[in-house]
Amino acid sequence: MSSLINRDKKHVWHPFSQHATSGDPLPIVSAKGTLLYDEKGKSYIDANSSWWVNIHGHGHEIIGKAITDQFQALDHVIFANVTHPQAVRLAERITSKLPSHLTKVFFSDNGSTAAEVALKMCVQFWHNKGEEKTLVMALEGAYHGDTFGAMSVGERDLFNKPFEPLFFQAEYLPFPNPDQEDHILEIAEKRFASGNFAALIVEPLIQGASGMRMYSVGFLDRLMQIARKNKVLIIFDEVMTGFGRTGTFFALDQCNENPDLVMLSKGLTAGVLPLGLTVTSEEIFNSFLSEKTERGFLHGHSYTGNPIACAVANASLDIFEQEGTIEKIERLKEANNEALRLISREPNILNPRVCGTILAFEVNTADRVGYFSGIRDQAYQYALERGVLLRPLGNTIFINPPYCITREEYDHLITVIISFLRSIQE
Ligand SMILES: Cc1ncc(COP(=O)(O)O)c(C=O)c1O
Repeated sequence: MSSLINRDKKHVWHPFSQHATSGDPLPIVSAKGTLLYDEKGKSYIDANSSWWVNIHGHGHEIIGKAITDQFQALDHVIFANVTHPQAVRLAERITSKLPSHLTKVFFSDNGSTAAEVALKMCVQFWHNKGEEKTLVMALEGAYHGDTFGAMSVGERDLFNKPFEPLFFQAEYLPFPNPDQEDHILEIAEKRFASGNFAALIVEPLIQGASGMRMYSVGFLDRLMQIARKNKVLIIFDEVMTGFGRTGTFFALDQCNENPDLVMLSKGLTAGVLPLGLTVTSEEIFNSFLSEKTERGFLHGHSYTGNPIACAVANASLDIFEQEGTIEKIERLKEANNEALRLISREPNILNPRVCGTILAFEVNTADRVGYFSGIRDQAYQYALERGVLLRPLGNTIFINPPYCITREEYDHLITVIISFLRSIQE
C-alpha cells in the first residue's frame, strides 16, 4: 500500500464515505485535460468531471495564468464595503448571459451556500414586505447541498435522517414523470393557492444526485406559471446544470418562463476553485433597501468574492469565448446520442437517456436499487481497472466528462461501460 494511502487513512475523513467499507482512496497526484494520474503514472478518464465541476479539462493554461496574475495583483480582500475588478467583471458577464431582470449577484463559496443565500433571500423578501411566508416547495428527489437550509429542501431520505428533526418545513411535489405531469400540476395549483409558500426551488430539467433524472421543459414552464400566479418566488438551482451541462449555456435558456433567483457554482470556476453565486432580480434586491440596517441582507462568508476565485471564473468565460467551447459541447451531445443508441441495445439496462453532455441509464439488477445498490461498487472497480473514474449513483451509471474529452477517450469510456454491462450478464 502506498505511503500516501497509509497517511491518508490515519488522518483524513472523506466526504460521502462509509470508511468501514469504502476501501482505499485512489492516490491521484496530477492531472491534465480529461486525465487524472495516480502515483504510478496510470491514467484515468475523469468521466464525472471530478464531481461535475471540471468543464474545460484539468491544468488549463489560461486558468493557471489567471491564478498567478491575480495572486500578484490582489490575493484576497474583505468584500463588505470593498469591491475589486474581478468580482465586478464577473457580475457583469454573468448577468449579461442571464435574462435581463436578473441583475444582482451575491457571492458565496459553493453550491450549498448559494442555496442558503437564495432561501434566506426569499424568506427575508416576504418578511421585508410584511408577509410572514416561510414555506418552500421542492421536488421529491431534490438535492441542493448539505448545509441545513439546503438539506431542509432536499429529499428526506437515509442520507439526512439524523438531522430531520432540525429541518425547517418544506413540501414536495412528486417527481414529474411524463405520465404524471398534469396530475402533479394540479397538486401544485392546490398547494400554492394556500398563499403560504415563499419559494419554489428546482434543479431545472435534470435532478443530479437523485440519479440524473430528467424531466420536461414543458412541465417546468407550466409549474413556473402556477408559482408566479400564486406569488411564489422561483429559485433555479443551476449548480449542476449551468455552464453548458444540459447543452445550452444555462438550463433556463431552454425555458419560456424565467426564475427570480439562480444559483451557480461547480462549472462556474471550471472545477478549479470554490465559488458560489446567487443571482437575483432588481425587485428582490430593492425590497432590502431601507434606512434600517436590519432590512439589509446581513449574510456573508470570510471568502465572499475571493478575487482569485473570481479571476478563475472570468478565465473560464474567456475559454468559452476563445476555444469554441460551445462547439465542443455540441460534439459531446452528438457523441452521447450515438452512444445512447449503442447502450440501448444492451439487454440489462433501463431508461437510457441524454440531457446535453450527460448520459445516464439504470442497470436492471436483481440487487437493491437506488443509491445503495451494489452495482455502484462493481461498476466503479471494473472501470477503474480499465482506466476510467466513474462514480455511479447506485445502479444509475452516468457520464458527464469535461467538454474537451477527445473522441478516442470518449470511445474508450463507452467501450468500458458496455463491456461492464456484458460482464455482469455472464
Ligand atoms: C444541484 C445541486 N445543488 C447544490 C449542490 C451543492 O453544491 P456543493 O457541493 O458545492 O455545496 C449540488 C452538488 O452536487 C448540486 O448538484
